[in-house]
Amino acid sequence: MTRTCLSIVLAAGEGTRMRTSRPKVLHTIGGETLIGHVLGAVRGFGGATTVVVGPDAQAVTDVVRALMPQAEVAIQRDRRGTADAVLAAKASVARGFDDVLIVFADTPLVRSETLRRLRAPLAHGAAVAVLGFRAADPAGYGRLVTEDGRLLAIREDKDASAAERKITLCNGGLMALRGDVALAILERIGNANAKGEFYLTDAVAIARDMGLEATALETPEEEVRGINTQAQLAEAEAVLQARLRTAALEAGVTMVAPETVHLAADTQLGRDVVIEPYVVFGPGVVVEDGARIRSFSHLEGANVGQGASVGPFARLRPGARLGPKVRIGNFVEVKEAEIEAGAAANHLSYIGDARVGEGANVGAGTITCNYDGFDKHRTDIGARAFIGSNSALVAPVKIGDGAYVASGSVITHDVPADALALGRGRQVAKDGWAANWRASHAGAKGKTAARRKR
Ligand code: UD1
Ligand code: MG
Repeated sequence: MTRTCLSIVLAAGEGTRMRTSRPKVLHTIGGETLIGHVLGAVRGFGGATTVVVGPDAQAVTDVVRALMPQAEVAIQRDRRGTADAVLAAKASVARGFDDVLIVFADTPLVRSETLRRLRAPLAHGAAVAVLGFRAADPAGYGRLVTEDGRLLAIREDKDASAAERKITLCNGGLMALRGDVALAILERIGNANAKGEFYLTDAVAIARDMGLEATALETPEEEVRGINTQAQLAEAEAVLQARLRTAALEAGVTMVAPETVHLAADTQLGRDVVIEPYVVFGPGVVVEDGARIRSFSHLEGANVGQGASVGPFARLRPGARLGPKVRIGNFVEVKEAEIEAGAAANHLSYIGDARVGEGANVGAGTITCNYDGFDKHRTDIGARAFIGSNSALVAPVKIGDGAYVASGSVITHDVPADALALGRGRQVAKDGWAANWRASHAGAKGKTAARRKR
């Protein structure tokens, strides 16, 4: 039988050391909020989730509601320590779960697999399981006090003796409690310590006193890295990027300079995809099999079809949907537009709020004029249409299948299928005009005259 699990996500910290107006847990790595990563890690457990927030955390609550509508949100009125924060979710715990898993919203690199390992001892009788790590620099962390491999207590840095401070096995902070004893343990935690806080870490010694078993698991330090400062946020980003790149390479993506490619946590790359150096993926990008993303391209909220080619120097914004074998070349921006199979826009274009039909060719410098200052309007380009270079398509407008738009046109009316639209003034050439004009300025100091003399 699979065990039921309540995940409690602690997010009531103030995050003042970030020095930003944005709440700490709403900062992002890999294009996803810190709290979003943590919710993602516990999502697989199929149980209930309660997020504990501070009193003025509407923005955090809104993000939680959007990411996990079924999650409960509990408020910790005063920041009185980690055990007090867990007890803000007492009503959830009291509903009765086999396991109670406590995670921190500012510790986003923990893997789902590690949390699964942390829960495992509970199924074998342990009352408390703690996630430990060997700290390069243990200062500031709680130390795991062990005897013959058994976990006796966790001593917070400020309360530790000189001998205990020498222990390098530290508390990662995350903990699993057996549901049937969780409240009994939590409610015995007091605040007679250096900080006057209710320490969740006291759960270990209390469980021992109650004759229950506590155990510790080890995990690499990078997984339990907490984020308090901008520098730590950047470090966590680097760890996540390394993981994402490794996963992409292992899945068969070709990247000759992976260290220059910035991925999002949800980037999906198909087989035989090639990513050239210096490409940035924002959230929500899917690249299908065999597509190539060339250097210096920026993609966000976009779908790239099989065998398509993007860039170099292309920008795909949200709602860009490229079909198979589409070509989007240098300095082309695509937003909220469907580019159908085999169509191409190879140079210097803006395609927004549009459809480009199968096999159509959008010439250099073509612009969809989609915005009139108040509303956005659509441009529809038919299959196999040819849009001559430097054309402005003033939306709303439709170009029929197979139609031809002459270069330099300003198109303000629909063009029928297979028609030619010539949306520009007729060219006139006046014989001898330029020579006469120069002659009339002979001896003058104009730039043209000066250059002619040289
Ligand atoms: C905690 C552990 C410490 C461990 C370290 C790992 C305790 C007492 N100590 O210390 O053993 O080595 O994490 O990083 O648990 N929070 C609330 N409400 C509160 C207090 C904290 O929601 O009243 C939340 C914070 O937002 C944060 C988490 O709990 O997400 C941990 O709190 P923090 O103050 O960072 O604990 P540490 O002192 O780092
Ligand atoms: Mg901390």
